[in-house]
Amino acid sequence: MRNIGRTVQSSIYRNGVFGRRPAVPTGADALAEAARRRMTRTGWSYVAGGAGAQRTVDANREAFGRYRIVPRQMVDVGERSLATTLLGRDLPAPVLFGPVGALELAVQHQRAHGGRGAAPRNAEPALARAARDLGLPVVISSQASVPMEDTAAVLGDSPRWFQLYWSSDDAVVESFVARAEASGCEAIVVTLDTHVLGWRTLDLDLGYLPFARAEGIAQYLSDPEFQKLVEARVRGAGGAGAGDGGAGDGGAGAAGTGSARAGAGENRPTLAAVRSLLSMARHHPGPTWRNLRQPYARAAVETFLDIFSRSTLTWTDLAWLRQRTTLPILVKGIQHPDDAHAALDHGANGIIVSNHGGRQIDNAVASLDALAPVVDAVREHPRAHSGTGAGAGTGNGTAVGAGSAVPVLFDSGIRTGADVFTALALGADAVLLGRPWVYGLALAGADGVRSVTEHILAELDITMALAGVSETGRIGRHNLAS
Ligand code: GLV
Repeated sequence: MRNIGRTVQSSIYRNGVFGRRPAVPTGADALAEAARRRMTRTGWSYVAGGAGAQRTVDANREAFGRYRIVPRQMVDVGERSLATTLLGRDLPAPVLFGPVGALELAVQHQRAHGGRGAAPRNAEPALARAARDLGLPVVISSQASVPMEDTAAVLGDSPRWFQLYWSSDDAVVESFVARAEASGCEAIVVTLDTHVLGWRTLDLDLGYLPFARAEGIAQYLSDPEFQKLVEARVRGAGGAGAGDGGAGDGGAGAAGTGSARAGAGENRPTLAAVRSLLSMARHHPGPTWRNLRQPYARAAVETFLDIFSRSTLTWTDLAWLRQRTTLPILVKGIQHPDDAHAALDHGANGIIVSNHGGRQIDNAVASLDALAPVVDAVREHPRAHSGTGAGAGTGNGTAVGAGSAVPVLFDSGIRTGADVFTALALGADAVLLGRPWVYGLALAGADGVRSVTEHILAELDITMALAGVSETGRIGRHNLAS
């Protein structure tokens, strides 16, 4: 992407001459506010919400204000490029679409208002269309609203990775990884920070967990190994139903009609319960009317809640995963340099510095504050100096050219192009975007995802121009006030 800032900026101003405004707001707060007004209450709470008193969500944003970019003048920046290389793949920009679960929640309101193309199963395909147009990788979520194969089909040749929640059922994990490989994924991203769900007050106050209504569990519902578990559950219950609402380690509990403590029998049927059952039946493969009569849809939700996650994992378990795929493995959720070292010691190929957008621990360290220490730890690790890919140094340890041997990616708190610049300056090889493009999806489907992303890339390019940098690989700590 060459000089994208000028292109996007000129097009917005030119459209303005004809009275046309951008399809989605360019400012981060205005974008979020526009999405909040449009989305359902449950959808907004799930996407925007964080843990507890929301202090980590706020801290993630506030941290960017503490790192200041220093403008530099009289540097030839007439030809700028955002291009980079990541895990051997040339990319137009150091930006990926981060994994976002239950993406259908971003288009729920469109269906509620009878909007076109708003069926829940359209969310990831819309993302995939935008990503394909931009050539930027999608990290397909374990908690997606459509099977990964469907998203892969829309992506065509465009790059994709797979984000893995390490289920407590080995066969399901193996099957997900095999399906990801067959779907053309180029890396596995294991999320380490969500082996229990955070204490998410916005969702808790609404009593709302999408997975308990079968929203965001399409990877499981479409999985042959998962289907075997559901079958066994139904047979074990004498075909009578879905068990008693096990909470599993995911801490999820309720499945719409019952709860971990109060089984279905103890609850009188309510409209909400009927809606939840309908949601399960609609999401389950096969005709809704049949799913309503059979026990499988509800048994599938209960099975998911039982096997979602595993709190017993330790670093040595990475070897198990390593043996099951030839793809690079990146670990996501790293906030401490020692964890970065341990991950590399145990075979990880890359690190994603993330606190899950502030959704897991309240009052946690801002993800941006964790970035530089992790980058330094990774650059000191012997693995960072082995193999191919380490290009010319920039003086701050950032590799230029062929891409870092052990990439460090960043997410949590990025809303603008200037934020991307700051994360790259602190040593990230690339960043993952989350909420901003989800808001774009909520406002304008694939066009919204594309526009939000173009705005961020345009601002990154313009920030580079004004900071006197013409290649993303040359952004470094020297571009920040000390
Ligand atoms: C799970 O992916 C979540 O953050 O809700």
